Amino acid sequence: MSQSEITICYIIGAVLFILSLGGLSKQETASRGNWYGIIGMLLALVAVTASEEVNAYGLLAIALVPALIIGWTLARKVQMTGMPQLVAILHSFVGLAAVLVGLGLQLDPHSVAGLTPIETLIHEIEVFVGVCIGSITFTGSVIAYAKLDGKMSGKPLILPARHVLNLIAFIVTIWLGYQFMGHHEQSFMYLLIAMVLTGILGIHLVMAIGGADMPVVVSMLNSYSGWAAAAAGFMLGNDLLIIVGALVGSSGAILSLFMCRGMNRSLPSVILGGFGTDGGGGETVETPEGEVTAVESEGATELLKNAKRVIIVPGYGMAVAQAQHTIAKITKQLRGDGKEVLFAIHPVAGRLPGHMNVLLAEANIPYDIVLELDDINHMFSDTDVVLVIGANDIVNPSALNDPNSPIAGMPVLEVWDARNVIVMKRSMGAGYAGVGNPLFFHDNTSMLFGDAGENVDAILAHL
Ligand code: TAP
Repeated sequence: MSQSEITICYIIGAVLFILSLGGLSKQETASRGNWYGIIGMLLALVAVTASEEVNAYGLLAIALVPALIIGWTLARKVQMTGMPQLVAILHSFVGLAAVLVGLGLQLDPHSVAGLTPIETLIHEIEVFVGVCIGSITFTGSVIAYAKLDGKMSGKPLILPARHVLNLIAFIVTIWLGYQFMGHHEQSFMYLLIAMVLTGILGIHLVMAIGGADMPVVVSMLNSYSGWAAAAAGFMLGNDLLIIVGALVGSSGAILSLFMCRGMNRSLPSVILGGFGTDGGGGETVETPEGEVTAVESEGATELLKNAKRVIIVPGYGMAVAQAQHTIAKITKQLRGDGKEVLFAIHPVAGRLPGHMNVLLAEANIPYDIVLELDDINHMFSDTDVVLVIGANDIVNPSALNDPNSPIAGMPVLEVWDARNVIVMKRSMGAGYAGVGNPLFFHDNTSMLFGDAGENVDAILAHL
């Protein structure tokens, strides 16, 4: 392929990626957006492979074919509940790729051949920044993977003077960068030390973030992986990689801001960590206690039959139980009986941004009855029955009325304002943030214990 043909492919690819992001921002157009992304990526792969610079097709096949098979198999096998871990580990690959590209370029004497001093300096900055961002992304994503997969405790690790430690690591990294660009004989050693240091920084930053703040970490690492890809694009002089990296980096950063807004946190405080331990004031967190009212599926069905307006609040447990299809049937039945049925979506429900929206869309629940937290919170007081399906942290009143709670200040769905609340879960156990939930002891709350999948099946049968 000639250079101009490759440039045309890159321009089309860049447009397709922008269309893809635009499409993914709405449920109605998400599927189309996904296809734009797939076609753009295929085009990019073909253009790079067909370029004159690439001729080691044997080596490329050794790398690509197993990667395609592994990627295809994983994507087919992964459960919706395993997606966050998969996304986190995929981010780590982007970081690792940026590190390897940087180290490879540094070891290749041809990479600076024929460059003017100023071009060499720019090249060195690209390599150094690419390796450092890549290293933070790699180690941070591996820790995020371990936390999301339950291989590591979700509790934040709070080292004394952690902010000072982070600051020292940052300053030393800048000093190493300065040395890297000046002392050509030991440059590689400075680069390696910076790589290890930023790797440790990545581990520390993510270890310090706990419980309910993990959603922001996932989107932050998404953003870092974009910047790591952009850095790799600069190192390789690949315009499309720079564009894609910048798109992912900036959209990840915007998503992080939205997630922070949804959690009522400030971005710097989440990045620097420490939330999710205690309330910050060192006070003891209150453990809710009292009488619990249990209900069977027949009783829950009666409440639904007598209701005029029902709001369904899905959470992580709905994803575990894969209850969305039966819930869609219950919704259809209730709406057919003339009742108003709405869904309330919390921005961090489940384990992925948009997790619940994806499940509800998969079950063909109409989009117009799915409302976000801000649009539905005032409606609970005029609601007969709220059906909480496998949700916990997102309906925890202590976020609003216990300043010592680890989730204090996080906006929640104020379901307790409704006349009746039915909570479906298997036990009195805590949710992801590990906090007790006083909602379960409210007079108007009935607990429907058991697997949500079996319970919704039973309700549908009674209906
Ligand atoms: P959680 O607070 O994690 O609560 C889920 C509840 O579902 C659990 O208490 C569990 O109780 C119940 N459950 C699990 N399997 C079930 C089953 N088969 N049948 C019935 N119930 C089942 O979930 P949430 O309310 O959706 O809140 C999300 C939490 O995850 C927040 O703390 C959020 O910060 C965090 N988080 C979110 C994300 C994103 S991006 N959304 C990413 C990482 C972390 P039992 O064990 O008693 O059944």
